[in-house]
Amino acid sequence: MRFSTKAIHAGYEPDPETGSIMPPIYMTSTYILDAPGETRAGYDYTRAGNPNFTILEKTLAALEEAEHATVFSSGLGALTAMISMLSKGDHVVALEGLYGGTYRLFKSVFVRFGIELEIIKLKNSNELDSALAQKPKWLLLETPTNPLLNSVDIEACAQVAKKHGVFTVVDNTFATPYFQNPLRFGADIVWHSTTKYIGGHSDVIGGAVITNSSSVKHEMDFMRKAIGVNPSPFDTWLTTRGLKTLALRMERHAENGMKVAKFLEGHPKVSKVFYPGLTSHSSHEIAKKQMRGFGGMVSAEFDLSIDSTKKLASFFTLFALAESLGGVESLVCHPATMTHASIPVEDRHKSGLNDGLLRFSVGVEDGEDLIDDLSQALDRIM
Ligand SMILES: Cc1ncc(COP(=O)(O)O)c(C=O)c1O
Repeated sequence: MRFSTKAIHAGYEPDPETGSIMPPIYMTSTYILDAPGETRAGYDYTRAGNPNFTILEKTLAALEEAEHATVFSSGLGALTAMISMLSKGDHVVALEGLYGGTYRLFKSVFVRFGIELEIIKLKNSNELDSALAQKPKWLLLETPTNPLLNSVDIEACAQVAKKHGVFTVVDNTFATPYFQNPLRFGADIVWHSTTKYIGGHSDVIGGAVITNSSSVKHEMDFMRKAIGVNPSPFDTWLTTRGLKTLALRMERHAENGMKVAKFLEGHPKVSKVFYPGLTSHSSHEIAKKQMRGFGGMVSAEFDLSIDSTKKLASFFTLFALAESLGGVESLVCHPATMTHASIPVEDRHKSGLNDGLLRFSVGVEDGEDLIDDLSQALDRIM
């Protein structure tokens, strides 16, 4: 089966008894046992498992061309379960450009349990080699990065990591499995905030960990149960429904993303545009090598003060000023004061995330209407 077919059929066979083409929502906390320890279908308590989780897990694993998936209450719930596999004294190396919440989870929470996050800026592969020679447990990548849309060569990084026995963990939230499959390039674990494109309709929070390793799958199922980072059956049902149209939505997100990026690139009030599909982007060649499309996230830097940038962000009528991304509706955010406010200002500026930057989550509306909206807002500023 190919991608769109798997997205619709891989997780669920229509119920032979009722003919229901969509799965029911198993809103149950517990399950009747035939005898102590004897379940009817492998389920005993919803914190540990639920048929709606299984349906979504089968679909996600199929779309990432993987053996296993485990779903969680949120993307950060998934990351919490993953970090819980580590122990005091363990060390994680990440490439610069992490989502602010990922950074905060390590630096404000797990640091207290003796888990250290080291962020490196990759100037050449020797640098990665020497960082991984220190034997961290993981190499953590996000590609494309949020919000500068830098692409990291997954295959090259995973090769170095393998040499040192380090696990490669990739956040594939921005690209989605429709445009990029990190496991194909040697990653060991892929994780998602399914809140974004996978759910796709800004109506649900969720996360997933996807892998070919049965021991990681076993640990993820255990951690979900032990920590209590399970989603609700209804949320996984909604996510399964959203996932059915992922291919259609991603095509339109990418088409509109390119339109918006080109429009902004040609606008005199814009000083720099970040979109993996633009040949002007410094990592365009890497994106072209590992992605089948460039997605719907576009960032642009304006030559404006922080206050004028914030004012511009409120002038759009279709691009709603809001956190999050990946829904059918277009959103705009000011990373310096919103999504990335938890990153210390010096680190933020050093990574190139400036106060005049706006990030656009380009939705699936008519592309011409989106251009008109950008145009009117830019006419109003200065
Ligand atoms: C790239 C990326 N990864 C992970 C997360 C965390 O996901 P969640 O909000 O579902 O916990 C986000 C949230 O914005 C994100 O943008």
